[in-house]
Amino acid sequence: MAKTSKPTFYVTTPIYYVNDVPHIGHAYTTIIADALARFHKLTGKDVFFLTGTDEHGQKIERAAAEKGLTPKALADSVVGRAQDLWKALDISYDFFVRTTMEIHEKGVQKLFQRLLDRGDIYKGEYKGWYCVSDENFLADDVALEADGCKICPDCGKKASVVSEETYFFRLSAYQDRLLALYEARPEFVRPQSRLNEVASFVRGGLKDLSITRTTVKWGIPVPGDPKHTIYVWFDALHNYVTAAGFDWNTERFEKFWPADVHLVGKDILRFHAVYWPAFLMASGLPLPRTVYGHGWWLKDDTKMSKSKGNVLDPHVLLKVFGPDPLRYFLLREIPIGQDGNFSHEGFLHRVNSDLANDFGNLVQRTLTMIGNYFGGEIPDPAPETAEDAKVRTDFEELKGRVFDLYGACALNRALEETWAYIGLVNKYLAENQPWIIAKDPALRPRLARVLLQAAAAIRGASYLVFPVMPRSVERIWGFLGEAQKPAEVLWEKLDFGGFGPGRKVGLPQALFPRVALKDFLGEEPRAAAAPAAGPEQTTKGAKDMDQITYEEFKRMDLRVARIIEAERVPGATKILKLRIDLGTEQRQMVAGIAETYAPEDLVGKKLIVIVNLKPAVIRGIESQAMLLAAITADNKALIPFFDRDIPAGAIVK
Ligand code: MSP
Repeated sequence: MAKTSKPTFYVTTPIYYVNDVPHIGHAYTTIIADALARFHKLTGKDVFFLTGTDEHGQKIERAAAEKGLTPKALADSVVGRAQDLWKALDISYDFFVRTTMEIHEKGVQKLFQRLLDRGDIYKGEYKGWYCVSDENFLADDVALEADGCKICPDCGKKASVVSEETYFFRLSAYQDRLLALYEARPEFVRPQSRLNEVASFVRGGLKDLSITRTTVKWGIPVPGDPKHTIYVWFDALHNYVTAAGFDWNTERFEKFWPADVHLVGKDILRFHAVYWPAFLMASGLPLPRTVYGHGWWLKDDTKMSKSKGNVLDPHVLLKVFGPDPLRYFLLREIPIGQDGNFSHEGFLHRVNSDLANDFGNLVQRTLTMIGNYFGGEIPDPAPETAEDAKVRTDFEELKGRVFDLYGACALNRALEETWAYIGLVNKYLAENQPWIIAKDPALRPRLARVLLQAAAAIRGASYLVFPVMPRSVERIWGFLGEAQKPAEVLWEKLDFGGFGPGRKVGLPQALFPRVALKDFLGEEPRAAAAPAAGPEQTTKGAKDMDQITYEEFKRMDLRVARIIEAERVPGATKILKLRIDLGTEQRQMVAGIAETYAPEDLVGKKLIVIVNLKPAVIRGIESQAMLLAAITADNKALIPFFDRDIPAGAIVK
């Protein structure tokens, strides 16, 4: 085995369900992992950063059946959605695992067999309430509803009773060992508050865990007993060892396992902090160092999720801003353990104030002055005054603090501290007024000192935020005429300065766009949402219009919808955001009716919507239906309501 003496760092994200379109919540975990991976690389470690997709289980089996595809074909057709998003976000993963890979399936079977041989897995009969959506049996203490059914506490959907022959994992035997683990290694679960939750769950008693299904076909078969499929969580959790090389790349496995940090959302902490270490103890593999449970991104105070219909598509922001503003915002806004409310106002405020004003402007002004006053080459500077020296020593102290903060996963604090320093450098320039000094030719060495200090501070501060904003920092280092890329400079080697003679500083180009809220949210909603054509055009003779066939008309799925919620969209005067009931499901939509209706007049009203129109993103909100409205002479939308009652979901034709 070729052990290197270089320290290592292994970080993972959860593997994302392949049937979901990745949203800002998923991007969050992956961005945290990327920032940590990049930081640890800067410290000279050999890093292994793993992400991937969770492709087995009933949800995918069903989604594929609905589309008339095999589950594998469905997975193959959508796995690119995650990979494309990670590319657009500059995610530097080292390996992308798919649970349908042979290396994974074989590894899972091998470990299943090992546990069977050791008596930690045994065959029995299971009867319990099962949530298809979460692929999880409900805990016994979930109460029965009035109708005699149970509701999944995580997703709110109805569970059903499932009874089947199953293989159990002897989880009950691990209660004491798990409690001893939390006691001996409190950093195993972070943040601390989550450790307490997990420990009290385990203290409450652990039952053996059913880890196979006969009702699900899409998954890894139990070795030697293929009518049983391995439960999707037993399968998925093992990705962290199979992808690292377990049983197929021993050198890599021994180098990187155990993982340093598994990043997971708080909703899946229990799987990682209870089941996963128990599986590993059973198979005799070392335990990961830390499972870090992060908070959720909420939209309008509710967890962003597909089932709630309040997800934000990161591509909308990426198209306008590129990856770094979103990376910065998500990591700066909240500490990793807490929830955050995502709003476009909050996002734009940070981008405009922290990035464009504080940081972008500093770079812009400093480099422009070096260009204007010295043709891009800073001459010999005057000796440092105490004030100049403070810019340097403050940086050196900052560098040490930021190192510790990254090491402790306190990314928001690392950014906060760096921005406090950027504020000081701005103040230093404002107080020293290089534009005034420049007027006196005798003060050129002093001018050189002030601009050198500012340029060195920019170089250093930007290096410290490289893990979070790699693309922008590479550009800044390029403007500064650095021969090396930030990723090539080790943290410990980074000094304050680096502007020897002959260094040519270039002119900066725009770094961070400053975008006004009204411009960003100014995308006009489509069709009935904000009529483009006035009444003259819409009433023109039928013979002037394109004719469509009845077959074409029939392709439109028009339904009666009941408005459940209506609200204004901050910063928008024409549109309202609606939540509608279609009988069998709820959707959110955006409609250009704010000039004709107040939100409170709409709730409870029924109207006609087209439900099979491709969703559109309007002012950052996904609109999943479109209502029909007549257009008045002054271009307002009038909704035709019904004159008697009709159930939501009724077909309109
Ligand atoms: N496939 C399982 C994980 C198996 S890991 C062995 C799964 N997938 S998921 O796609 O539903 O979720 C993946 C991660 O995204 C989870 O950590 C979850 O917490 C996170 N998020 C999903 N929505 C989120 C927010 N709105 N905010 C932050 N993270 C959220 O669970």
